[in-house]
Amino acid sequence: MIKRVILGIIACLTISSSTFADEGMWLPTLIKERIKEMRKMGFKLKAEDIYSSEKASLKDAVVQFGGGCTGEFVSEQGLLLTNHHCGYGSIQKLSSVEHDYLTYGYWAQSMAEELPVPGLTVSLLVSMEDVTERLAAGEKREDIIASATKGEGYRASIESIYYGNQHILYVYQTFRDVRLVGAPPSSIGKFGGDTDNWIWPRHTGDFSIFRVYADSNNQPADYSKENVPYRPKRHFKISTDGIKEGDFTMIYGFPGNTQEYVISDAVEYVANVSNPMKIALRTQRLETISAAQAKDPAVRIAYAAKHAGIANGWKKWQGESLGLERLGTVEKKKQYEAAFAEWAADKPQYASLLDSMRAAYATTTEGYFVRELFNETIGAIEAYSYARAAQSAIDRNAGDYFTLPKDYNIDIDRTIARQMIAEFMKRMPTKYIPEALRSGIKGSGSIDAYVDSLFNGTKILRQGPTALESLAGDPMLEFAKIFAPIVSHNSRYLYRNLSNVPSIEKWYRTYMQALREWDGNRAFYPDANFTLRVAYGTICGYENADGEYHTPLTTLDGIIAKDNPQIYDYDIPQELRDIYKNKEYGRWAIEKDGRTTVPVCFLASNHTSGGNSGSPVINGRGELVGINFDRTWRSTMSDIEFDPTICRNISVDIRYVLFVVDCIGGAEYLLKEVGVK
Ligand code: ARG
Ligand code: GLU
Repeated sequence: MIKRVILGIIACLTISSSTFADEGMWLPTLIKERIKEMRKMGFKLKAEDIYSSEKASLKDAVVQFGGGCTGEFVSEQGLLLTNHHCGYGSIQKLSSVEHDYLTYGYWAQSMAEELPVPGLTVSLLVSMEDVTERLAAGEKREDIIASATKGEGYRASIESIYYGNQHILYVYQTFRDVRLVGAPPSSIGKFGGDTDNWIWPRHTGDFSIFRVYADSNNQPADYSKENVPYRPKRHFKISTDGIKEGDFTMIYGFPGNTQEYVISDAVEYVANVSNPMKIALRTQRLETISAAQAKDPAVRIAYAAKHAGIANGWKKWQGESLGLERLGTVEKKKQYEAAFAEWAADKPQYASLLDSMRAAYATTTEGYFVRELFNETIGAIEAYSYARAAQSAIDRNAGDYFTLPKDYNIDIDRTIARQMIAEFMKRMPTKYIPEALRSGIKGSGSIDAYVDSLFNGTKILRQGPTALESLAGDPMLEFAKIFAPIVSHNSRYLYRNLSNVPSIEKWYRTYMQALREWDGNRAFYPDANFTLRVAYGTICGYENADGEYHTPLTTLDGIIAKDNPQIYDYDIPQELRDIYKNKEYGRWAIEKDGRTTVPVCFLASNHTSGGNSGSPVINGRGELVGINFDRTWRSTMSDIEFDPTICRNISVDIRYVLFVVDCIGGAEYLLKEVGVK
């Protein structure tokens, strides 16, 4: 195998002969294979404490929150922690001008004040099982799934790992009555906003609190006043002892999408084609939105979440491309592939494998690019999505009216439509440009005039309900129809990433087998796929730039240093200023470098990805010490190559969470419930 060379070794990294201890997202059922190393690093529990099919284990305390986040139980009454940015949509839904919980926060003072969130669900993993052999023996997927979904609220799916070499059956139980218990004001929960997003040093109190309710038999049920708090089989004990550099940490959650084993062709696509395209298009959209926000405070609020969502990927991809370049990932992969090819040359089953993979990329990449470009251009026009929603309501005969979502700004969307249609025309390979679009633009004289004809002519962008009946021939609905061929073309590329597209993935199945034979010492962990994983590492700083070491713990003093009422992202609540002034930290006070302060966020070397937001950060005794919410900007290439010297995940310290609950929320009863009082 190719030995990786690292130049600077930082004290908190553990290095074993075969792999770096901090890399990897492991299957909970196979964690026994890692447990020796974990124990060497400071973990005190056993493999079956992490996952057991017989008894309650930590896995019963971890949930998938909403669609794409993680959450964890912290009391025997179903109290749940996740990130503020994961609860954001729910908090927004419950907010109104009179009750602006996003801005001011919300603290239920009793269970009766907890607010049901319509549509919010959390899912618990009931069991997982390797069904590769059952499938090979001829059992049908549908039958395996049907026989696994016996319990109340159960759903099951079979997910493949290692590009289809193994198949795992996951059984989940989904709870439908989830209520908001507490949320800090955004000036704490989103402190630093997009400016600090992906950045260290960080000072975001990125947490929110929910509770799961069940029927009288502890089973999932629709919302009802009769429901009672769910009693989880297991919940996390909170540790207020704190963390220090070098301490063991484990992350237990649902990371979404990594591609660690791809060949150089895939990395070149991400770094040189996909990311630059997406970044350039989003730069334009962000400039348009920011300019409108700067002019009107109401627009700033209405477009805050949209701006944050667009900026999140935009910033991440820039970090990722830079990281891949800095690591020389493409070049390294090419060398690895050359060495592999040499080994494979006299093995008939593998000799032409890389050629086949390259050929598959050559024929598949364009189709995937079309999908990505379409999503980032036409798909970015809000009116296009509304037109599709209205059309689908008409087609399904569902309801009588289309209602424009609140917070829509037609001027922003019109500008974005002009920009994005122009980019679509410029960047899309000619054969994918619909003739109707071309002639529409030609007929109007220019792209801008064409866009105006759509925006001025449509009925769906008016406030208030629009009768679906009146939409026959509506220009925006007609515009949306133009792209039907591209949308159906795209449906062939609906995979997590380019390497998962079937025409390519089939070769990876063999490649993974070959790599295991050839590079036997490498520790292979399956790519993330939104299923439950364990990552472990240590509390650890890193060298951010030559001679510039970033220590792993931030404090309230850093918040005060950033505080500025003139800057929206850094304008903290007055209570926090007062608490700082009077040093009223109570038992949350710590001594750091001779100062009395409060801990806020910390860094660790766990391998995480999008979807790990809200994941519990666990110490060596299996206790909760923080909630994961981000990675550093320079870590973001870890979805393709993990660099143990600089890849760090960012968590909010549980002591800061409790400090905010206690001193800002005044919700002492919650502290009692989680056993810290
Ligand atoms: N970067 C984090 C993640 O990928 C946090 C995103 C939410 N925060 C924000 N300022 N946009 O999801
Ligand atoms: N904030 C991300 C999330 O929502 C986690 C950051 C990352 O990509 O690691 O899952």
